[in-house]
Amino acid sequence: MKKYYIETFGCQMNEFDSERIEYLLDKEGYSASEKIEDCDIIVINTCAVREKAENKLYGHIGNLKNLKILKPDLLICIGGCTAQNLKEKILKDFPYVDIIFGTHNISQLPELILKKKEINKNICEIREKGFDYALDRFRHTFPFKSYIPISIGCNNFCSYCIVPYVRGKEISIKPGKIIETAQKLVSEGVVEIMLLGQNVNSYGKDLDNPVTFSQLLDKISQIDGLKRIRFMTSHPKDLSAELINVIAEKPNIMSHIHLPLQAGSNKILEMMNRRYTKEDYLEIIHNIRSRIKDSSLTTDIITGFPGEKRDDFEHTLDVVKKVRFNRAFTFIYSKRDGTAACSLEDSISKKEKKEWFKELVALQNQISFEENQKLIGRCPEVLVEGKGSKNLLEGRLENNSVVNFEGSNNLIGRFVKIKITGAKSFYLTGNILK
Ligand code: 5AD
Ligand code: SF4
Repeated sequence: MKKYYIETFGCQMNEFDSERIEYLLDKEGYSASEKIEDCDIIVINTCAVREKAENKLYGHIGNLKNLKILKPDLLICIGGCTAQNLKEKILKDFPYVDIIFGTHNISQLPELILKKKEINKNICEIREKGFDYALDRFRHTFPFKSYIPISIGCNNFCSYCIVPYVRGKEISIKPGKIIETAQKLVSEGVVEIMLLGQNVNSYGKDLDNPVTFSQLLDKISQIDGLKRIRFMTSHPKDLSAELINVIAEKPNIMSHIHLPLQAGSNKILEMMNRRYTKEDYLEIIHNIRSRIKDSSLTTDIITGFPGEKRDDFEHTLDVVKKVRFNRAFTFIYSKRDGTAACSLEDSISKKEKKEWFKELVALQNQISFEENQKLIGRCPEVLVEGKGSKNLLEGRLENNSVVNFEGSNNLIGRFVKIKITGAKSFYLTGNILK
C-alpha cells in the first residue's frame, strides 16, 4: 500500500484542510505514515501569516532534496497559504517539488497526482478564488471531537494581515449543511465540535437568507448528545450582545472566547484597521464578564507594528493588566508583502521590539499563572483528549485550560471529574475524583 505523510503549519483552518487531504488520499487507497522516509507522497500544508513560518517551510523543502534524490518517485506536494501566495518562488527555488496547489484547489489533489504521473512535469494549480468545501469529506483526527468550518476567507483587511489575500473573501457555508454535518458527527460519537472561521461573528451576512452566528450557535446547541461547542476566531467589532446571551444561556456552548486584541493603543488599532478602540474592547470584556459565569478569555497581540511607540505599547500592557486574559498568543510584527502595512515607515529598532515582546510575555505568563492558581481545589468536568508528557493523560476543561493527571488510556474520549491540585502558566495538574 502506498503511504502519505502530511505536515501542517499554521492555524486550525489549515489543520482542517489537512484532514480533507487525508480523506482524499485515503479514498485513493493511500495510508498515513508516521515516518517521512517511508512514504510515497509528502504534502506540506503551508502558512503565510508570518515570515518565520515561511522561512521554516523553505528549510523543510530544502531538506527534502536528498530524499527525492534517493527516491525519485517520491511526490512532493506543497499546498496552503504560501503555495497560494508565492508559487513562483517555490517553482524557481525548489524545482524538484512535484505539485503546488492553492487553498481553493484541495479537492483537485487526487487528479493532480494522476496528471503528474502521466505528464511527468511539475504541476502548479492555483485558483484565485472559489468555494472548494464539501463538508462531508474530511477525516477528523480525534474520534470524539471535530472541527467544522462555518465560513471561509475574510473581508476585514487588517492592514498587517495576508489572510484575505490568500484565502479570499468571506463565504459562509449554509446553516443547513453545517447542522447536518454536526448531526452526522454526533451520531458517529463526536461530543465536541469546534466551529471555525477567520471572523465567526460576521457569519451568515453573505447568505441569500442571512442568519447570525448566534442563531447558528443556538441551532447547533440543540443537537442531542453534543456536549461541547467551541468556536474561533471572534472579531471584537462584530461581537454582539445576542452572542453573549446565547453563550450565557446554553450549557453546551463553552464559555471560552478567543478575542484578538492585537494592540491597546487607539492610534495603532486605527492603523491596523481593526475598527474598534481600546475603550470598545474593554466594554465588550465587561459585558462578557457580567453576563457569562466563569468565562475565560484568550487573545492575540502583535508588538512592534510600524509606528508603534513606547506609550502605544503601554496601552497594550494596560489592557493586558485590566483584562487579565487566561492566555495570550503574542507575536512580533512581521512585514507581509502586498498588505497595506508593508509600506508604512517603521522607525523602531528590532532590539526594542524584542524587549517589548519579552516584557509583554513575562507579564502575561505571570497573569496566566495567577489565573490558573485560582482553579486549585476546584473539581471541573474534563474531556480526556489523549496522552501528554510523562505518560500522563491530558484533558481539557470547559474553559479550554489543559490539565494533566494519571489514568488509563480507556478514558480517552470520555468525561471525568478532576480535582485540580497544581497550576503552572500553561497547564494544570490534578487527580481523578473517584
Ligand atoms: N505579523 C505578526 N502577527 C500577525 N498576525 C497576523 N498577521 C501578522 C503579522 N503580519 C497574528 C495576529 C492574528 C494571529 C493569527 O496572527 O495576531 O490574530
Ligand atoms: Fe487577518 Fe484581520 Fe481577517 Fe483576522 S480578521 S484573518 S487578522 S484580516
